[in-house]
Amino acid sequence: MRNGKVGIGIVGAGNIAALHARVIANLPQAELIGIYDVKKASAEALASQFGCQAFDDYSEFLSVAEMDAVTIATPSGLHGTMAIPAAKAGKHVFCEKPLDITLEKADAIIQACVKNNVILSPVFQGRFARPVQLVREAMRNGRFGRMVLASGQMRWYRGAAYYSGSNWRGTWKMDGGGALMNQAIHMVDMLLYINGAPDEVFAFSGTLTHSIEVEDNLCAAIKYRNGSFGTIEVSTSCAPGFHRRVEFSGSEGTVAFEEDKITIWEFAKPQEGDDQILTTQMESRIGSGGRNPMDINDMGHRMQMEDFCNAILENREPLLGGREGRRAIELICGIYESAKTGKPYKFSR
Ligand SMILES: NC(=O)c1ccc[n+]([C@@H]2O[C@H](COP(=O)([O-])OP(=O)(O)OC[C@H]3O[C@@H](n4cnc5c(N)ncnc54)[C@H](O)[C@@H]3O)[C@@H](O)[C@H]2O)c1
Repeated sequence: MRNGKVGIGIVGAGNIAALHARVIANLPQAELIGIYDVKKASAEALASQFGCQAFDDYSEFLSVAEMDAVTIATPSGLHGTMAIPAAKAGKHVFCEKPLDITLEKADAIIQACVKNNVILSPVFQGRFARPVQLVREAMRNGRFGRMVLASGQMRWYRGAAYYSGSNWRGTWKMDGGGALMNQAIHMVDMLLYINGAPDEVFAFSGTLTHSIEVEDNLCAAIKYRNGSFGTIEVSTSCAPGFHRRVEFSGSEGTVAFEEDKITIWEFAKPQEGDDQILTTQMESRIGSGGRNPMDINDMGHRMQMEDFCNAILENREPLLGGREGRRAIELICGIYESAKTGKPYKFSR
């Protein structure tokens, strides 16, 4: 650590890498050291914007001593391929979602980080949004009574060019799935983070409006381990794209939010402060890209990156640690299995 700052390198120099670079450059406890991409021109273009070094040789990149940590921003199916050597080189890992596209590959990253004693923080910036934190606290305090329903709806839009302009989006091998694995994974993570693990799912999926291998529409019914039910409805076909909605109902309360705006906050036993929840919506906007994939405000990444750097500096676990990254992948893969077999999928305990 130089001057109390965490030296960070970025792996992959595409869309989300530019946001990573901006976040790192603006964080007092971080320093952007270098950017690696298989396409040297991409690494150079981003590195020159941020005044750091560009690399097209991964071993050379990983051997830079001032680099304490890396962020993984390559296509999803390559996250393990990049993260595991980084962990072996002693670099802490901040890995974009999904941690990888199968549970086996995600577990291999988790194990490599544990074995090499480096911190792993899988990106789920949506967890840092105000509604998510408020609902989680209400749930922990038992305000919902008996949980009965926890559901999410994502009616988003991606045009044909979004897929045709990329060599990895919309492929099983590198994207690991479609609307559910790529776009809706944040919503899936929120449902699990707040309502706990799934017990069983049944799903339908299809490719209805795009020329891609993976699904652009999917609907799943879930039974959670706590006995409640829910639906997950996702699409990248709904032009022009709408706000993502997440809803939780128990015998004593219901909360709903659209993106980071709370629309319902009703409890049978009101508490002080409840009245202000709807009227004092924060100016913050985590932003999730319902119409445009680059419409992501950097606040969530900033909060998670800040915690990641502080965890390194303070030698503690990050708020969002390695195993948290596997939960949504487990549910998503179970949903895909059900859609493929036409049978319910039961999760092992
Ligand atoms: N957290 C979020 O909200 C969010 C938003 C967008 C993307 N993502 C995730 O970030 C990742 C990247 O997405 P993107 O939209 O930036 O993709 P992108 O296609 O814009 O960029 C990927 C970059 O990786 C490079 N690359 C490919 N193979 C490589 C390799 N072997 N080594 C090094 N670089 C390599 C490509 O040249 C490209 O520059 C994906 O996993 C995606 O799911 C997360």
